[in-house]
Amino acid sequence: WLRRAVGTCPRCGRGSGPPTASPDLARKLQFYDGWAPDYDQDVAALQYRAPRLAVNCLTQALPGPPHAALILDVACGTGLVAAELQARGFLQLHGVDGSPGMLEQAQARRLYQHLSLCTLGQEPLPNPEGTFDAVLMVGALSDGQVPCSAIPELLRVTKPGGLVCLTTRTNPSNLRYKEALEATLDRLEQAGAWERLVAQPVDCWELATSALEVAPGTSAKDAFISGIIYLYRKQKSP
Ligand SMILES: C[S@@+](CC[C@H](N)C(=O)[O-])C[C@H]1O[C@@H](n2cnc3c(N)ncnc32)[C@H](O)[C@@H]1O
Repeated sequence: WLRRAVGTCPRCGRGSGPPTASPDLARKLQFYDGWAPDYDQDVAALQYRAPRLAVNCLTQALPGPPHAALILDVACGTGLVAAELQARGFLQLHGVDGSPGMLEQAQARRLYQHLSLCTLGQEPLPNPEGTFDAVLMVGALSDGQVPCSAIPELLRVTKPGGLVCLTTRTNPSNLRYKEALEATLDRLEQAGAWERLVAQPVDCWELATSALEVAPGTSAKDAFISGIIYLYRKQKSP
């Protein structure tokens, strides 16, 4: 996402943003603040499918009636995940994000019962242990955004037996991050904290906007970035 902000995106036409070299999360979140009003229309142009695919994956595995499930949308952005959840009858939705501008857009959707400002990796989630039936994080697990060190927080706020759904991109420029993420996920599984239910590769995650995002030799034009959806069930008792 950061890379997309540098130079001019051929599809959405955005031309400014933080320098790629900046490791500063605060600047990244400021970038999201500035992008927030245009985010939905820009990602629609990129055919961004992650929210729908992740919500499909999660809701197929969630037991019980939709209205009974309390769900946390982590790095909720403008609320695209909430829109997908609401369309399937899930109405008890909380959201957190590190960008006030994105949260403002999410608030305007009126789909979340509660929204909080929280910088993942630097602050704990603002919820007690074992609060949610399901926790999702879509489109935020990559270099310079949410660090892998934030994953245990997601697990902490999930109810015993509850579900955690995560996504990341699997294009070449994100492979190092994905490796570190999988090491974190596997360590938690080996420790008995959760079990993996799904690891679903997705070929067409969203359109690439730069040749750096796709496999060498592939033209960025009309090429899709690939991704993966993980679904875990938290252990039932400690
Ligand atoms: C690409 S958007 C995804 C938003 C939404 N989940 C979606 O799929 O449309 C990434 C979101 O993650 C948030 N974000 C990135 N790093 C974060 C961090 N460390 N803590 C909190 N939010 C973060 C950004 O503010 C942004 O809203």
